[in-house]
Amino acid sequence: MADRHRPGRLSERTALITGASRGIGRAIALRYAEEGADLFLVATNRAKLEETKALAEARGAKVVVHAVDVSDRAAVEAMLAAAIEAFRGVDVLVNNAGVYKAARLVDYTPEDFDRIMKVNLYGAFHVMQLVLRHMQARGRGKVINIASTAGKWMSMNQSAYNASKHALVGLTRCAGLEMGPQGINVNAICPGFVETDMLEEFRAHADILGVPWEQVKAAGLARVPLRRFLKPEEIAHLAVYLGSSESDGMTGQSILLDGGMVVA
Ligand SMILES: NC(=O)c1ccc[n+]([C@@H]2O[C@H](COP(=O)([O-])OP(=O)(O)OC[C@H]3O[C@@H](n4cnc5c(N)ncnc54)[C@H](OP(=O)(O)O)[C@@H]3O)[C@@H](O)[C@H]2O)c1
Repeated sequence: MADRHRPGRLSERTALITGASRGIGRAIALRYAEEGADLFLVATNRAKLEETKALAEARGAKVVVHAVDVSDRAAVEAMLAAAIEAFRGVDVLVNNAGVYKAARLVDYTPEDFDRIMKVNLYGAFHVMQLVLRHMQARGRGKVINIASTAGKWMSMNQSAYNASKHALVGLTRCAGLEMGPQGINVNAICPGFVETDMLEEFRAHADILGVPWEQVKAAGLARVPLRRFLKPEEIAHLAVYLGSSESDGMTGQSILLDGGMVVA
């Protein structure tokens, strides 16, 4: 299926992208399609995945979609088998699926804490570990974990999300170290505020603080030197670089892409 050649920075590469039904994952899928990649797209909402598929096919990509909850290990194993069967191999993994919930640390329910960890950390681990074993056998590959500025510094009312993203940055470092000698690059992107459905959930901070959303939004933007939220496409541009041979010299890194919010 991946035989035909289309020009681009990701020509003749097959990318497995989780959380591709909307937001950042969809934007990455569409940029990858434009750069010549074929796509295996994953999320829980099949109807939304089909929308991404149609948009990517219109850009020339071969696309297969697969509905899966990344926190379900057995389902992830079946998903990877389906990807390998469809495309004979995975060259690039974009580990992007994630969930968010705002709450004060003292108010998080164990159920909410668990769910965030199961998707953002264990889900990323399941997909990454299984794909890395596959890449090891092939002696090449690229992994891009979508972490967050929340993986690099402290943030109010999102300690579970923050902990999950710190852990993902740690996983990225260790995987980069272990996989480097085998020709596999593992890096992360740490976005700041990006205009997606997830940013809408950020509105809950206003309720927690008991102040209007506009005030919380203005305070958030005041922390961003570029004074704007990013577009999902801006994250996709860096994902193209990290999925291409242009980034062959980079591994173990977690790159901030946040309008200058965190200078570290
Ligand atoms: N937006 C931001 O400001 C921001 C900032 C920093 C980092 N990020 C990170 O960027 C990534 C993408 O976020 P986004 O902003 O694009 O959010 P989004 O619009 O809410 O999209 C989240 C994606 O993850 C998928 N997903 C959620 N739970 C899943 C599960 N259990 N199994 C499989 N897929 C699942 C969703 O698909 P379904 O609903 O179809 O399952 C959806 O495609 C996340 O890891 C997020 O933490 C976002």
